[in-house]
Parts: sequence; C-alpha cells; structure tokens
Amino acid sequence: MARHLITSALPYINGVKHLGNLVGSMLPADVHGRYLRLRGHDVLLICATDDHGTPAELAAHDAGQPVDVYCTEQHAIQSELSDRWNLSWDYFGRSSSAQNEEITLRVYHALDKAGLLVDRDMTQIYSKADGRFLPDRYVIGTCPHCAFERARGDQCENCTRVLDPEQLINPRSAISGSTDLETRTTRHLFLQLDKLSDRLRDWITHQVDWPVLTTSIALKWLNEGLRERCITRDLNWGFSVPREGYENKVFYVWFDAPIEYIGSTKEWADAKPGREWESWWTGDAANDVQYTQFMGKDNVPFHTIMWPGIIIGTGDPWKQANYIKSYSWLTYYGGKFSTSQGRGIFMDQALELLPADYWRWYLMANAPETDDVDFTWEAFGAEVNKALADTLGNFVSRCLKLNERQNPGVEGSSLVPAAGEWTDEERRLAEELDVRIATFNRNMDEVQFRKAAAELYLIWQAGNVYFQNAEPWKLIKESPERAAVVMRTSVNLIRVFAALAQPFIPESAERILAALGSGGQSLWFDETTPMTTELVALSGGHSIATPAVLFPKVTDDQIKDWAGRFAGTAAV
Ligand code: 2FM
Ligand code: ZN
Repeated sequence: MARHLITSALPYINGVKHLGNLVGSMLPADVHGRYLRLRGHDVLLICATDDHGTPAELAAHDAGQPVDVYCTEQHAIQSELSDRWNLSWDYFGRSSSAQNEEITLRVYHALDKAGLLVDRDMTQIYSKADGRFLPDRYVIGTCPHCAFERARGDQCENCTRVLDPEQLINPRSAISGSTDLETRTTRHLFLQLDKLSDRLRDWITHQVDWPVLTTSIALKWLNEGLRERCITRDLNWGFSVPREGYENKVFYVWFDAPIEYIGSTKEWADAKPGREWESWWTGDAANDVQYTQFMGKDNVPFHTIMWPGIIIGTGDPWKQANYIKSYSWLTYYGGKFSTSQGRGIFMDQALELLPADYWRWYLMANAPETDDVDFTWEAFGAEVNKALADTLGNFVSRCLKLNERQNPGVEGSSLVPAAGEWTDEERRLAEELDVRIATFNRNMDEVQFRKAAAELYLIWQAGNVYFQNAEPWKLIKESPERAAVVMRTSVNLIRVFAALAQPFIPESAERILAALGSGGQSLWFDETTPMTTELVALSGGHSIATPAVLFPKVTDDQIKDWAGRFAGTAAV
C-alpha cells in the first residue's frame, strides 16, 4: 500500500465550470483517486475553489454582493455540483481559508528571508471613477494594429497581438467605461525567478517519465529565460501583504492559489481530530508520498516553473509533484468552451440532461490527452449509445433477463445456476480477459484514461461476443448443462465489468454490483485475481436482482433538441 496525494487544478470561484474545465483537471483527478483507492492505496484527493483575483471581485460586484459573501455562496454551489458529479474529494477547500493564509505567509516570509523578493516601482493605469488601479485586461480601447474597438490592455482578441494598456487608442475602464484614466506609480513585490532558473532546470530534467506535453511547455519557458514575477496586486480582495508600503495591496491570486493545495490539506486535517497534514507535505515523512497533479495545459507553466520555483526558493522541504498530468482543450464546435462568453455546456446544465455517468464516460473516453478534442452532440450521442447502452447496458440487461427466465428466483430476481466444467470457449475468454485487464491496469497506472476506457470497452465487448456466440437462449433446450455454464459465466462477467468500470461510472457500477450482491466492497481485478477464479466466483444458488434499464439510449430527437438549445452559444 502506497500513499498517493492527488490534486486537481483549483477551479476559479466565479461561476459554474464548463465541461472543458472538468475534463482537464477535476474529473481525471477523481478517476485516478478512485482507481488507486480500489487498488488498496492510501489516497488523499484534494481540490478547492480559487477564490481570489479581480474576476471574483468583479463577479461579486455584478451580483451586488460583498465579495466574501459571493465567494461563500459560489463555493457551496461548486461543492454541491462536485457531489452530484461524484467527484470524490477528501476535501474541497477554499483558497481564501485561514489555513491557506497562514501557509501563504509562511512561504512569503521564507522567500523574503532567502532574499528572493524585491520591491519595484512600476506604472499602472488608475481609474478615478472606479477608485482603483486597473489590471491590464480591464483597460479596453482601440487596437493600434487592427483598429478593433474592444481590444484589451494585455492582448487584442481580434489580431492576437500582445499589447500594453498605454498603446490603446481611446482607453477606457472595462469596469465602468470611464475614460478618466491616468498612469500612476505603484510599488510591487517581485519574485526573482531568474535566480532559480538553474535549480528549476535541474528539477525538471530529473523528472524522467513526465508526459511530453508537460515537459515541453516547461522547457520552452526555461529556455526563453525566466524573468522576475510580480506577486502582489492593487486590490482589496486577497491576503494582505505584511510589509511596509503594502497596506492597500494583496498577494496575486496565482501566488496563494497553488499554496492552497497545502492549505486545503490543512483544512481537511483541521476538520476532524486524528488527521494530520504535515506528513503529506513536508520533510522526510512525505518522501514515500507519490504526488500527482492534474491540470489543463494553460496551467502547466505555473505548475512547472512558478510554483516549484516558489517552493524551491523557500528552502523548506515542501513536497514537489512527482507527476504532472496535463490536458489539451476540449473544444465546442471548433471554438473554445468559454465561461466569459457562456459558450459550451456547463456542469449544472449537463446534469439536467443526463446522469453524471453518461458525461463522465464520454469525457474520459474522449479525453484530450494528446490533441484537442472537439465536442459535438452527435459524437457524444454515438459514444454513450455505443459503449454504455449497446455494450455494457445491453449485456447486463440481456443476460439478467434471460437468467430470470431460465433460473428464476423470487420476483424480480434470479439465481446463478449450478453448473459444471468449462469448455474451450470459457478458457479462451478467460485468457483474453486476463490479457486485456493487464493492459487496462497498465493504462490506469500510467494515467492514460482514454486508452484505459478504450480497453474497458473491448473488455465489455468480449463478453458480448461470448454471449452472442454461445446462444444460451437456444442451449437451454439442446443442452441445459451447457446453458448453465454460459449463464454462470455471464453473470460473473457482469461482476467483473462493473467492478472495472467503477472509476469511470461509479454510480452505475455500484447499481450493478448491488444487484449482484457485490456492492459496497472494494472490488478490483489484476494478475492476482485470474479470470479462471473470478468467472466462477458467484456460484450456484447466489441470488441476483434484475436492475431496471441502466442506460436508456440517447435518441436522435434528444440530440437534435440539445444541439438546438445549445446552438446559440456555439462558436461562430
Ligand atoms: O486556471 C485556473 O482555473 C486556475 N484557477 C487554476 C489554479 S491551479 C492552482 F494553482 F491553484
Ligand atoms: Zn488588434
């Protein structure tokens, strides 16, 4: 049994997340956590909301709420959605927690002591009407290159050129629209990341089996040369900076957000006596912890450069990630899912249409592990119908309905028939499944969930082929002994199929296992549980309930309806 610490990139507090956010961090983190728990490991699965930053402040303003009240409300919404998606966090914390503030200050003081922080004066746009400094992206105006009238101060969305707010023609505040802007000098704190370059390169080049996507992004940044990074902001919402001259400033959201991985663990520990967080995160005690992070590719520079740089800079023995799993984009009809533009499908909307397992399966079986993946309603419908309805669901329902006819139990149930010896058909099936299950476990170990889902589908299919070829509905007349062997084998196949599906479709898997009387157990299969044993595990006389249809098919009409309903927000 090993100790596994798993973190998902922290979703921003402002608003319900879309399926693109979910597939790149929270969902694979959950699948990984569920898998490792089933393998008997000690797992700590951590997430939290990323509470600070200008977007949160502005969203609260738009909602007419004090920002702390807004964040508390939004955290409750996201937490409840996590539950409905069966994201099995050990803790879903908040980056604005007292625990995170304590650790953030500890990190700040350590960096300061190490001489890695410098004060620098810089100029920034100040809006008199708003009574605040404006971050670059909150200054809008006409692009000097392409004349686009709503270019942002950091980048023009139209021609994609990187900009400084001073370059904009007719600049105005994105918050109030006021043009009463001026440039003011303001002092900020910078982390001298450049001084950490060698130590970061050393750390990154020692990570042998990281995914190419992760390492290539990290090395690109290093090779371009690291620069000082500003870690404070002129805002009200955030952790105060305990330094003279910083009375009206807070730490930058990206400074305290990754620290919340630790903060949330401390929140978890504080929530119940007997728990402790240090051995997961500090010193020699954490050496045996395997720490895996999940995130979208946009977060990789922060997790391979900025955050490890902060940790290394403190000189304290904080745990570093052993493995960073990053994902490309899930696109929506060729465009990006977008919170700001409301484009795509959001976590709450999805569950109004179908149970979580449909989405969980589609998203993991089509995870953007190497390249971007485009969501279309047609592809979604085809995937869930093929894998869940026609393969797993169909197998369970055909097999158990037939078993009810051939080997009835009390109403709505059936009995595993007492049966004799296997023939070559069962031996071949067991052999094939042993090989496939080994491949599946390897894929799961390697955090290749798309490949794992493809293998699981083949495992389910092997069962369908066996059942179809054996024709137990005919055998019952010609050779009842042979029918009994096939039915016993098939019922046992259901148990194997559902157990292996648990990380992906936990609710349905549990329903199936409960029907077989195998629910609530930590059931998994590997080389220590060969199919020669497992396919006879449920034996003669064992009672099975017949579950209602597990995966009703998604119909063409539904697809048309949903595609129409969500078309308004599709990319143009
Ligand atoms: O990009 C994002 O959604 C950020 N909120 C991720 C933060 S990850 C961690 F560092 F907190
Ligand atoms: Zn432009």
